[in-house]
Amino acid sequence: MQNKVKITLQPIDETLVVNKGTPLIDILHEYGVEFPCGGKGTCGQCKVKLLEGELKIDSIQQEKLDTLKLGDDCRLACYCNCESDITLEISQFENIILADSSTFEFKPQTGFGIAVDLGTTTVVVQLLNLKNGHILDVETAINPQAKFGGDLISRIQSCLDGSQSEMQNLIRNKIGEMIQSVLKKHPVEVAKIAIVGNTVMHHIFSGLIVNALSFYPFESPDLGAQHFTANQLKWKLPLESKIQFFPSVGSFVGSDILAGIAATKMTENKTYSALIDLGTNGEIVVGNRDKIICASTAAGPAFEGAKISQGMRATTGAISSIIFKNGKLQAHVIGNVKAKGICGSGLIDAMAILLQQEKIGMFGEINSGEDKINLTNKVSITQQDIREFQLAKAAIAAGLQILLNQLNISFTEIENVFIAGGFGNFLNIRHVIQTGLIETQEDKIVKLGNTALIGAKMFLFKDEQFIRDILNKTTHLNLEADLSFQDIYIEKLMLA
Ligand code: FES
Repeated sequence: MQNKVKITLQPIDETLVVNKGTPLIDILHEYGVEFPCGGKGTCGQCKVKLLEGELKIDSIQQEKLDTLKLGDDCRLACYCNCESDITLEISQFENIILADSSTFEFKPQTGFGIAVDLGTTTVVVQLLNLKNGHILDVETAINPQAKFGGDLISRIQSCLDGSQSEMQNLIRNKIGEMIQSVLKKHPVEVAKIAIVGNTVMHHIFSGLIVNALSFYPFESPDLGAQHFTANQLKWKLPLESKIQFFPSVGSFVGSDILAGIAATKMTENKTYSALIDLGTNGEIVVGNRDKIICASTAAGPAFEGAKISQGMRATTGAISSIIFKNGKLQAHVIGNVKAKGICGSGLIDAMAILLQQEKIGMFGEINSGEDKINLTNKVSITQQDIREFQLAKAAIAAGLQILLNQLNISFTEIENVFIAGGFGNFLNIRHVIQTGLIETQEDKIVKLGNTALIGAKMFLFKDEQFIRDILNKTTHLNLEADLSFQDIYIEKLMLA
């Protein structure tokens, strides 16, 4: 245990043992904590209160803390490493705070609510006090359907092969267990549960036939909200608890994106904004209070580390960021351990730096003629990895361009580009722009964190009309059906 330290997180009362020297950002990001300014120390949103133990402050952090007027017991999580046993209070869990620094205003209600973000890979459950919006507990887990394949296509295929009801039971049971676990620590009456997730998760959880999602034009007739009783799901909750899986916006744009639209407050503003989720499906939304268009792209799972020779998810052992300093590449590895592979944010950094150094060309070719470039002595990027990156990047960039064309606006008219997902926590915005992934200015990009979860929490306080209003304004576009798609896609394959 010499090289290990114990970290206790409050108010969720979770204790974990990590390697000494592990950056706090690596730990907290797993718990859904957002790092809106990307660790520059300017937003103060990652502040934690040191309840016990010691967390050293260097002169740079002190300066940031003074500028942000934070007290002696506060620290910026993005600046701290865990060197000894500590107990922290996570400020973000005290309020429903949106990462753009504004607080979500809500009408206090009685009772307690649970927000569930049902992702293809992970599941997050948060218990909230509906009177004050405080988060009482968080549970995260790997989606047990993972054994049926990591992506949506394999999950659909497994349904078609006859495993849908097994997958349905697995996920219903898992969420039921997670709810029991939070309620064991906080025995309260749950009034409502808001579940969001992509359309495939929605269909499998709800027991809807997925066939229509498996062939062109991929249009399911069952995109609507699904309501359940605790008995139907075999969850040990009061009979009158209201459980809802929120509606999808389109065949491959689920209620996770509906929640994301709510989290960006896109529907309230006259100015345009965009929301991009760089997950497997690469969902994109552009709009304002009058009109919203969304689409899913075939970005593939490159940003989640799949199809990359040494790719992996943003977990312990993944290179999450790379900088070029003192004449060499310096990689940050999540969890302060030896690098095992590279995740999406690290891949974007690698591409931008290798491009700057002219080790790769604009068409993605390795200039040395070799078939790979070493990033560390264990991790390298192959020519095929670069091709995978180009395909994913082009899908997002082309999708975005087509939505702008549909709205008849240019990129300069977009006020903010919100990046969804915990993935964004490690993202170097400058590198995102340098690779041509998002063609905007640095200061317009906002990392909004887990927008699905933020939106699910908002839904606990909103009525049906709120959801109807968003759906009425939102149009789903099938990108492949757009005649200009191929040309724009080919153009966007170029790096930068
Ligand atoms: S101060 Fe912004 S993420 Fe830490």
